[in-house]
Amino acid sequence: MVANIQKKKAEKYVVGNFKGGVGKSTTVQMLSFESAHDRGLKTLVVDLDMQGNTSDVLNLTRMNYGLDEG
Ligand SMILES: Nc1ncnc2c1ncn2[C@@H]1O[C@H](COP(=O)(O)OP(=O)(O)O)[C@@H](O)[C@H]1O
Ligand SMILES: [Mg+2]
Repeated sequence: MVANIQKKKAEKYVVGNFKGGVGKSTTVQMLSFESAHDRGLKTLVVDLDMQGNTSDVLNLTRMNYGLDEG
């Protein structure tokens, strides 16, 4: 049991670049979807983009999966 708890270490990904349109948001969206949906892990996305694209996309995905009214 103790060994099991010690194994549960969070994986962290940081995606950043000064240039726009290079796939930062898309990378985060794909990584977080794979983590939450395919691997069933608790997943936290911190979206520091002022445009909030990733927050919008993940919210739409959640609605499309019928998990939310909107
Ligand atoms: N691996 C990829 N292959 C093809 N198109 C991509 C890929 N990653 C992102 N794109 C496209 O490139 C555009 C910019 O991506 P986006 O993730 O919004 O960039 P950023 O967040 O860096 O501004 C979007 O239209 C997206 O669909
Ligand atoms: Mg972006």
